[in-house]
Amino acid sequence: MLPNLQEAKIRTKNKVDIKNYHLDPKYKNLGLNKKYYIKTYGCQMNEHDTENIKAILEQMHFTETTLMEEADLILLNTCAIRENAHNKVFGMIGRIKHLKETKPHIIVGLCGCMAQEEIVIDEIMKRYKWLDIVFGTHNIANVPEILNKSLTKKQLAIEVMSIEGDIVENIPVKRESKYKAWVNIMYGCDKFCTYCIVPYTRGKQRSRLPKDIINEVKQLVKEGYQEITLLGQNVNAYGKDLDIDYTMANLLNDVAKTNIKRIFFVTSHPWDFTLDMIEAIKNNDNVKPYIHLPLQSGSNEILKKMGRRYTKESYLELYNLLRSSIPNVSITTDIIVGFPNESDQDFNDTLDVVNKCKFDSAFTFIFSPREGTPASKMKDNVSLEIKNQRLQQLNKLINKYSNEANMKYLNKTVDVLLEKVSEKNPNMLMGYTDTMKLVNVLAPKDNIGKIVKVKIESVKTWSLDGKIVK
Ligand code: SAH
Ligand code: SF4
Ligand code: F3S
Repeated sequence: MLPNLQEAKIRTKNKVDIKNYHLDPKYKNLGLNKKYYIKTYGCQMNEHDTENIKAILEQMHFTETTLMEEADLILLNTCAIRENAHNKVFGMIGRIKHLKETKPHIIVGLCGCMAQEEIVIDEIMKRYKWLDIVFGTHNIANVPEILNKSLTKKQLAIEVMSIEGDIVENIPVKRESKYKAWVNIMYGCDKFCTYCIVPYTRGKQRSRLPKDIINEVKQLVKEGYQEITLLGQNVNAYGKDLDIDYTMANLLNDVAKTNIKRIFFVTSHPWDFTLDMIEAIKNNDNVKPYIHLPLQSGSNEILKKMGRRYTKESYLELYNLLRSSIPNVSITTDIIVGFPNESDQDFNDTLDVVNKCKFDSAFTFIFSPREGTPASKMKDNVSLEIKNQRLQQLNKLINKYSNEANMKYLNKTVDVLLEKVSEKNPNMLMGYTDTMKLVNVLAPKDNIGKIVKVKIESVKTWSLDGKIVK
């Protein structure tokens, strides 16, 4: 089946099917004596999908390698959010082609959000017919079958469904970390911001049942996990699609009762943030004071064209409420510059919001037209040069405030979950505070996996340095 953006846009009131994954025993030994290599390009959800794909492959007795050159199966788990994500993947496919020429037996596959795009599939059919498998975001549970087909038929097998999507429970997972875990609470997105491809590549919003989420977290507590991040494109809208009266605030309260040490959640669309959620953050010690609250633009005109459904004023009101009601809260954001016809005044409005909010940090992007989205058809009179200038100007301001926000931590003692040896210094460990600040810590290695008290001794724009205190 091939992807179709028109079909992917359809939303019905049909009930979401909840299926259960199980591996058909006839595929159990498909990976015997074979190695797999998988590269991930996208967001946390994409990374979590990789954790699922890895576990499925290992059930089939594939073993993982981090060296692409020695793999029998190479998978690229792709992202479609911006043009440069595309370019990286096609560059990589070019490299893999050489490998395949010397080792024709290897299986090469593309999956993730790019696989859901018509233009990508067209390109693959035209220029990359030598690929072996392509599967979409709705087809992960069928990986064993898809691989089997490819091994027996020896021709390009494409399995992409442009559907609203269902939910498959009990897909195995090989988690990257032994201490912190991602937990999907919902799939898809119904917001259809005019610039964004995600509602097309990930289907309609489907919330998992509360009991399935809570059981997963309980299991993680049993396994010794210290931290979870609840994942969704717009977690604040969690539950709106369920038949029961149950909200994100309810979920936060119930997940908190599992006594997992730290709970984070991303991403929060400002539109759906409720007062009950603020209460849930305040009332549960283990729901941590970190909120990612994408602004996208500070101009009401642009926000309207983006279909974001809030204004500069209502964003600021929510922002100030969060700051004043949640002690020590850290708030980060996403901002797009160069949306079609963004004027100097529009851009200045964005700078104005940044000056008012003084975000802890931000991801900033130049608008990238995504084929099939409404914004890609909008007329644009802004040159790339100006867009680049705006991005630089914005980043400068963002960095100034990141630095200021980090300075507040100097000489303070904070809780850090130590994850692993620091990349920049082998004598240090790295981890995050409960406000999502990256910290490099002078501490003995046996502290890995623990939440420890750290005194911050120096501050940089991107990170903090400190030492462990008793
Ligand atoms: N669901 C999240 C966003 C996921 S995508 C939310 O609504 O907040 C992550 C970020 O990528 C977005 O917040 C946006 O800033 C950026 N982005 C999405 N589409 C884009 C595009 N076409 N061009 C540039 N940036 C984009
Ligand atoms: Fe994209 Fe908007 Fe959905 Fe976020 S809320 S995934 S930006 S459509
Ligand atoms: Fe990219 Fe898909 Fe995530 S487009 S940002 S991998 S949902």
